[in-house]
Amino acid sequence: MSVKLSVNINKIATLRNSRGGNNPNVLQVAVDCQRFGADGITVHPRPDERHIRYADVRDIAPIITTEFNIEGNPREDKFVELVLDVKPTQVTLVPDDPGQLTSNHGWDTIKEKNYLRSMAEVFRNAGIRVSIFTDPVERIVAAAADTGTDRVELYTEDYARHYAQDREHAIAAYVVAAQTAAAHGLGLNAGHDLDRDNLGYFATHIPGLQEVSIGHALIADALYYGLENTIQMYRRALHQFMSNR
Ligand code: PXP
Repeated sequence: MSVKLSVNINKIATLRNSRGGNNPNVLQVAVDCQRFGADGITVHPRPDERHIRYADVRDIAPIITTEFNIEGNPREDKFVELVLDVKPTQVTLVPDDPGQLTSNHGWDTIKEKNYLRSMAEVFRNAGIRVSIFTDPVERIVAAAADTGTDRVELYTEDYARHYAQDREHAIAAYVVAAQTAAAHGLGLNAGHDLDRDNLGYFATHIPGLQEVSIGHALIADALYYGLENTIQMYRRALHQFMSNR
């Protein structure tokens, strides 16, 4: 089973927004990422629209020929409306606050079980695959299974932060979380702070990994290597996973 690379294009919108016009053109970048080998496109609209805008998401949806993943907090009614309207392949539910710089924690699936169950039902009834962003904590991943979600996305910031010091230690909790997800019949995604250095080891050691979504590091690498080369480099890091298994 190959691991899908979903490219998060929020940073492209941030660059565009810094000057007001339409350069770079996020729609064109979405088309090109797919042409260059991305298996999916991810967007994370936030209420202040400081990077990808709600209107961008509506414009991008029809040109997606791979998988479209929309991340966000379902507590925003506008987000729920958008997702139900656009009907992406997947919605990833993230518990971030409106002004938060970037996602920095997963759901408390134990405390929020009833809420998450009701939201998972709304999206699944619309034919949209649901993924819930979680920390790599066994009981949190196990409780996610009670919400009716299809998948969990493991928050990989902690792995990335400790990778250089001690990668075996850094990945240990993620292996257990992945095994827990599999034991409960949940699919598995991962994301946040994955990069060209830490991606291959992660993909090699995480059983059942189906998809990674990567934005910041990939777009930063593209400044040096170009978008096409960079996407191919990240794909190779994932394919190294397949041949090492
Ligand atoms: N997954 C989630 C839920 C996120 O919020 C983000 C950042 O928007 C990512 C993955 C991608 O993280 P990064 O930009 O560090 O690759």
